[in-house]
Amino acid sequence: MQLHNKNILVGICGGIAAYKTCTLVRLLVKEGANVKVIMTQAACEFINKNTLKALTGHDVAIDIFDEATNIDHINITKDIDLFVIAPATANSIAKLACGLADNMLSATALACTKKIMLAPSMNCYMYENAATQENINKLASRGYYIIRPGKGDMACGDKGNGRMAEPEDIFKIILAYLTNNVLTYQENNLYLEQKYNNQLDFKEQLLLPNSKLTNKKILITAGPTREYIDPVRYISNESSGKMGYALAEIASKLGAEVTLISGPVTLKAPANVKVRNVISADEMFDACLREVTSEKYDIIIATAAVSDFKACHIHDQKIKKNPLADIYALELTNNKDIIASIANIDEEYRPYCVGFAAETQNFEENALYKLATKNLDLIVLNDVSRSDIGFNSDDNEVFVYSKEGFLEHLHKMPKNILAAKLLELIVEHYTNTKDDD
Ligand SMILES: Cc1cc2nc3c(=O)[nH]c(=O)nc-3n(C[C@H](O)[C@H](O)[C@H](O)COP(=O)(O)O)c2cc1C
Repeated sequence: MQLHNKNILVGICGGIAAYKTCTLVRLLVKEGANVKVIMTQAACEFINKNTLKALTGHDVAIDIFDEATNIDHINITKDIDLFVIAPATANSIAKLACGLADNMLSATALACTKKIMLAPSMNCYMYENAATQENINKLASRGYYIIRPGKGDMACGDKGNGRMAEPEDIFKIILAYLTNNVLTYQENNLYLEQKYNNQLDFKEQLLLPNSKLTNKKILITAGPTREYIDPVRYISNESSGKMGYALAEIASKLGAEVTLISGPVTLKAPANVKVRNVISADEMFDACLREVTSEKYDIIIATAAVSDFKACHIHDQKIKKNPLADIYALELTNNKDIIASIANIDEEYRPYCVGFAAETQNFEENALYKLATKNLDLIVLNDVSRSDIGFNSDDNEVFVYSKEGFLEHLHKMPKNILAAKLLELIVEHYTNTKDDD
C-alpha cells in the first residue's frame, strides 16, 4: 500500500481514452490512495460517472454550480498531493494554457497550487498541431509534467503520436513521484515527453539548484587514459566515462558552460558540451592545464581514471615475443597528477576542485589522504572493487568528503541521478565556500 495517506485528484476529459482512466483509478485505489474524480461534460459522453463513484467511493464532480456534491473548485485541491488529468484533451489543454475557468476541471486546475500531471490524448494531427504543441509547451514551462503520449494506431484509424500513455505506465509515474522513488533514465525517456521535460528524473528536477549553475564554467574529466608501451599495446583501466559524461550532460542542462576532457570512451558527446578528446595522461594533463590557465573556470570535477603510471620508454615497433624468455620487464614511471596540479596553481586561476577516489581498500583513509595531500575542496569516494557499481557500471554509490569531514553518502542509484545529486552537493558546498571568502 505505497499510496496509503496520499490524496490524488484525477481529472477526466472527453477523449476516447477516458475508459482507460477507470483502470488507472482502480490501480491507485488498490495501492491505498484516496482518489477523487472530476469529469468534464464531454467526458460523460464516454464513461459513466457512477463507474468512477463506485471505484473511488466519492461523488464525482462535474458541474461547477452543482451544490449537491458539496465539492468546490477552490477547496478540492487544498489537501491533495497530486492532480492528474488523463486523458487531457486538446480542448482542455488549450483552456489550461489560456487560464480559462469555464468548467469544474479548468477552474480547479487554475486554482490548484499542487503539482499537475497531464496525459495528453488525441488524434495525431490534433496533437502535432502547432496550437496544441504551443499550449503543451506553455504548461510544461509553468511546471506541469507532461506524460508522453504513445505512437501507434488511433481509434479513428490514423497512425501517429497522441495515444494516451497506458494506465499502468501513468500509475508507475505517479507512484514514483509520490513515493520519492526515482525513475530510471530509460523510464524517464520513455514516459516523460522529452521536448518538454528535462530528461532527468522529475523529482531531481525539483531539487536541483538550477540558477546556481547558470553562467558557471565547469571543467570535467572523464574516462580512462591509455599509456602505450608499443604501437599496439597499452596500459589502461575499466573506466567507461559514464559518470563524467552524466555530470557534463546534467551540468550543461542546468545552465553551466561545460568543457569535457575525455579519454577514449564509446559514449556520445552530450549536447552543448565542448569535448576535447585525449588518449594519454600526459595529453589529458596538457589539455586541462591549457583550459584552466587560458580561461577562468569556477569548478573542476575530475572523474577520469587517469593512469598513475606510464611506460618509461615507448617502443617504436611492436615488442616481439622472445621464445627464450619467460619474463619480460616493463619499466614504469609516475604520471603527473592532474587534479593536484590544478588545485595548487595560482589562486587567480584555481577553480574549486573536486576529485574522485576510486579505491579497492582502506576507503575512507585513502580518500581523506588524497583530499588533504592534493589540496582538494571535495572528494568523491567510490568502491571500484564491486562489479555492481563504479567502473563500467550504470550505477554508482559514493561517499563525499570535504575538508571539514564526511559530507554525504549517496546510495546506489543510476549514474545520471547520482550526477544530479552530486552536482547539487558540489554547488551547495562551492557556494558556501565562496560566501565564506
Ligand atoms: C468520438 C469522439 C472522440 C473524441 N476523442 C477525443 C480525443 O481523444 N482527444 C481530444 O482531444 N478530443 C477528442 N474529441 C473531441 C472532444 O470530445 C471535444 O473537443 C470536447 O469539446 C472536449 O471537451 P473537454 O476538453 O471539456 O473534455 C472526441 C470527440 C468525439 C466525438
